[in-house]
Amino acid sequence: MTNAYIRGTGFHVPDRILTNADLEKIVETSDEWITSRTGIKERHIAAKGEAASDLAAAAAKKALADAGMEAEELTHILVATVTPDCYTPACSCLVQAKLGLTHRIAMDLNAACSGFLYGLEQARAIVALKPEAKILLVGAEILTSRTNWEDRTTCVLFGDGAGAVIISGEPAPGTGSGRPAGRILDSLLCSDGSGADLLVISGGASSEPYATGQVVGPSHYIRMKGQDVFKLAVRSMESVCKDILARNGLSVDDVDLLIPHQANSRIIEAVGRKLGVAAERVFINVDRYGNTSAASVPIALAEARQQGRITEGSLVLLTAFGGGFTWGASLVRF
Ligand code: ACO
Repeated sequence: MTNAYIRGTGFHVPDRILTNADLEKIVETSDEWITSRTGIKERHIAAKGEAASDLAAAAAKKALADAGMEAEELTHILVATVTPDCYTPACSCLVQAKLGLTHRIAMDLNAACSGFLYGLEQARAIVALKPEAKILLVGAEILTSRTNWEDRTTCVLFGDGAGAVIISGEPAPGTGSGRPAGRILDSLLCSDGSGADLLVISGGASSEPYATGQVVGPSHYIRMKGQDVFKLAVRSMESVCKDILARNGLSVDDVDLLIPHQANSRIIEAVGRKLGVAAERVFINVDRYGNTSAASVPIALAEARQQGRITEGSLVLLTAFGGGFTWGASLVRF
């Protein structure tokens, strides 16, 4: 089987920053509550008219530059998102157009916050089937388009952004930036639909179709049973990380950097603690971006590479948990 490599990474977030102090003016909350319960200090918010494909295309261009590749070389465009520009066409088709391309294979994936990891495994499978493939995988979200600004239990949590990677098989040129490429060693993906109603956006979809003149209500926005999600997220990410390490004959001591989905610093710290990974080997940037769902892992991966926290030989463990429920882990050796 041809090995798949991450050759470039990049991310893009909107300019506008919404701080906890700004949120204090919108709902009854405080910087102290948000910081102590979530670790989030600020998040980036899309401008009016800015859509998921705009953030995705900007992140894609940075990942291409990092890989030292031209957009024309791409054969596949995969976008993981729960907040696409529209129901149809797919966000990936719009990203293709924004990159000036046509006739590529383009498709969207919906696995909520685990979408990027699901996409990574899709990309690895594509490379195994078509060793010449050059794949753009983006996680892109405008979660604030589905945020209920009257619900303080959810509106403080989310932010907008996009993270992108370029994946291709071997042999292939090194990365443009000179940073090491990362071989995707393995992925372990899971899902369980029995908890679907604990984290859901249903209004306006086929189970709750829009009616002309209908007033938009709470079901059109993210609704979540926070404490249930919290416990499941910790348990699921801990167990999937242990399983993927065990089946690859590795231990937590082999992991140079753990990059968990950035939902909440308390979830991230609990996963690190339960796995026995020292805090300095756990990547956290949720304080500056909030929860960006499918974009969170690729944004964190790109930022970690940019900061020099991933070097030649680093073993990186990625893990995520999200709506569905979906969860998973991937091992990447740089
Ligand atoms: N500001 C001030 N007070 C608040 C706020 C707020 N923004 N939100 C809730 N409260 C109040 C509640 O009303 C409640 O008050 P009460 O005791 O008078 O009823 C009190 O704070 C405690 O509320 P809890 O829901 O028990 O707070 P908890 O400690 O569970 O924290 C939180 C809530 C942060 C949502 C937590 O459950 C959590 O992080 N869950 C994980 C959810 C998550 O991150 N989901 C993202 C999607 S899935 C994923 O990405 C993993």
